[in-house]
Amino acid sequence: MFVNFRRIHKCRCVQLLTTGLFLCAMMVCWEELDHHILSHIKAYTYRYLINSYDFLNSSFTIASNNNNIKDGSHSVAGVIRNYTYLINHPDKCGRSRKIWEDVFLLLFVKSSPENFEQRQVIRNTWGNESLIASELGVSVKVVFALGMHQELRWRSRVQLALLQEDQTYDDLIQQNFLDTFHNLTTKLILQFHWVHDYCPQAHFFMSADDDVFVHVPNLVKYLRQLVSSKSGAKNLWVGHVHRGSPPDRYKHSKYHVPYDLYPWPSYPDYTAGAGYVVSADVASKIYHATLFLNPSIYIDDVFMGICAKTMGVSPQEHVYFSGEAKTPYHSCVYDHMITSHGHAKDMSSLWQAATDPKVYSSRGYIGDVYCTAVRAMLLCLPHYQSTYSCMAAFA
Ligand SMILES: *[C@@H]1O[C@H](CO)[C@@H](O)[C@H](O)[C@H]1NC(C)=O
Ligand SMILES: *[C@@H]1O[C@H](CO)[C@@H](O)[C@H](O)[C@H]1NC(C)=O
Ligand SMILES: *[C@@H]1O[C@H](CO)[C@@H](O)[C@H](O)[C@H]1NC(C)=O
Ligand SMILES: *[C@@H]1O[C@H](CO)[C@@H](O)[C@H](O)[C@H]1NC(C)=O
Repeated sequence: MFVNFRRIHKCRCVQLLTTGLFLCAMMVCWEELDHHILSHIKAYTYRYLINSYDFLNSSFTIASNNNNIKDGSHSVAGVIRNYTYLINHPDKCGRSRKIWEDVFLLLFVKSSPENFEQRQVIRNTWGNESLIASELGVSVKVVFALGMHQELRWRSRVQLALLQEDQTYDDLIQQNFLDTFHNLTTKLILQFHWVHDYCPQAHFFMSADDDVFVHVPNLVKYLRQLVSSKSGAKNLWVGHVHRGSPPDRYKHSKYHVPYDLYPWPSYPDYTAGAGYVVSADVASKIYHATLFLNPSIYIDDVFMGICAKTMGVSPQEHVYFSGEAKTPYHSCVYDHMITSHGHAKDMSSLWQAATDPKVYSSRGYIGDVYCTAVRAMLLCLPHYQSTYSCMAAFA
């Protein structure tokens, strides 16, 4: 009896200890998890307020912000708009030739001075204007947006190389601001101002990163469908939409935004900056918003969200615009995909594979069922969740 009792006692002790340890571990992890989940729930709830009221408008409008005017920092915005062009092509869309060319899509690639190879691979693949014109019969213009090289000691050498590159390809648009992460909003303003000044007739405008793969044939097909649809191609801002994202408050994060820059728990809805498309009327609205909004938010896609919110434009989701990740390499996805993120060397092989005429040949009923099953298997697994949503498999 006695021995037995002691054994039970021992067992209990071990049980208690393990339970205690387990709870401790849970609590440590939970704090992280809790913070993450809570900030997302809070942001998602708050997004209805952000999206329904006008307080963003008034607090980012430069003229209504008296403090800024007093301390003279209103000129910050003025200076940003007054960066001068180091390389420019005012005639890209035929400005001086009286008759403006009919441009279907103007594609701005956000590049950096040192990314020579990335630009070249884009010119050789999805950014080849003459190839697109002959294959698809539309005018698509591709230009690259750049600032100046960050490092003073390399700047003049890189600048010489850029001038040479531009002599060959005539497609660089560069202003004299430093090409840094915190100047991305300046680069966004550059793009919308350039469109307004030199290519306002373009039916659509797209902005994309230089590590993004754009399936131009699929994109053009989609946009043409919009143009011929009943609702027409007005008021369009399409991409991978972030709804109710919370600002990142971790001090050491790349995307850290302090409370005094943005005090609310949620951003207005916006599309991932990796690649999105707007119609001409929206491009013009965003241009006008940049004239009176304070560009202090340096995350360019969030600033775009604020501009759009102010002008009453909301983003639309397209399941085949990628978020952060690469497309699955599979022919069942190629005939649907629009963008895919994070490419360098593999851009050429993907272009070959994704535009192969075989991808577009009819598969028949069995083939369609097979492809839906394959897409479901590829896209609904956690691995590809940050590329296209699971829903894309059945679209
Ligand atoms: C920006 O440039 C324009 C035209 O060159 C000039 O009229 C304006 O005063 C400048 N603004 C600032 C803040 O320097
Ligand atoms: C673009 O495509 C055309 C036609 O196929 C080709 O002749 C040209 O070399 C290509 N340009 C580049 C930069 O790859
Ligand atoms: C942005 O560019 C301007 C002009 O070159 C520069 O003065 C400023 O430091 C840059 N900002 C950041 C955060 O790099
Ligand atoms: C935001 O402010 C601008 C300028 O004051 C105004 O033109 C615009 O209509 C406002 N937008 C909303 C949604 O109230």
